[in-house]
Amino acid sequence: MLSWLGWSRRKQDSQGEAPLELRPRDCHSHVIPGVDDGSRNLPESLEMLALLQAAGVERIIATPHIFPARFPNEPEPLRVAFDELRAAAATSGLSVELELGAEHYLDDTLLERIANERVICFGPERYVLFETFTGAEVPAGLFEVCAALGQRGYTPLMAHVERYGYLRGSAGRELVEDLRCAGVRFQVNRTVGRANLPGVGPRGTFIAWLRRRGYIDEVGSDLHRPTADGRPVEPAA
Ligand SMILES: [Fe+2]
Repeated sequence: MLSWLGWSRRKQDSQGEAPLELRPRDCHSHVIPGVDDGSRNLPESLEMLALLQAAGVERIIATPHIFPARFPNEPEPLRVAFDELRAAAATSGLSVELELGAEHYLDDTLLERIANERVICFGPERYVLFETFTGAEVPAGLFEVCAALGQRGYTPLMAHVERYGYLRGSAGRELVEDLRCAGVRFQVNRTVGRANLPGVGPRGTFIAWLRRRGYIDEVGSDLHRPTADGRPVEPAA
């Protein structure tokens, strides 16, 4: 079972970089059925939970998208769906613990959402996981959102930082330092995707640099499916 994990470790070892391991707490997952591009139904969700549990995860943070343009979720319905999943997991005999968070998209509505206490935080850190545009330009409002979160007692946790071109680019190193000074914490994906192997490719090179700097605060599976790469399957055009 989980031969893909073994494959991944062997592949990483061959590059001379220690593998990036999942941690007992998985800070990023899409395991709630039917709310975003993650799990499509309850059996699939339970399969995903079992997969992570078998990989050594003891606590899964469910982080459905709150992304107004694509997944206009709100905290209350997400809480209902989450409670149903947690009950079903307990009934099915899974021991892994579950907690609700969210993956908030940085757009022009997020500042207002923060001001109105419409974000979902998790953990003793009061992490608010957020993602941004992935291109080469620094997204508008990045530092304002992080400051607003800090002022309200949250800890901004940037999702899958290896994806952002504006951090990996030539000006990115300085920006990383600025974000660290602003109290932002970094989450890196630990999927079996090749681009995420430490030291391999643009993402892996960036991950290896982050690790040398001690800047990988959290690891997440970002699991969308109970499959080797965990990615959502795009519908046929
Ligand atoms: Fe995600």
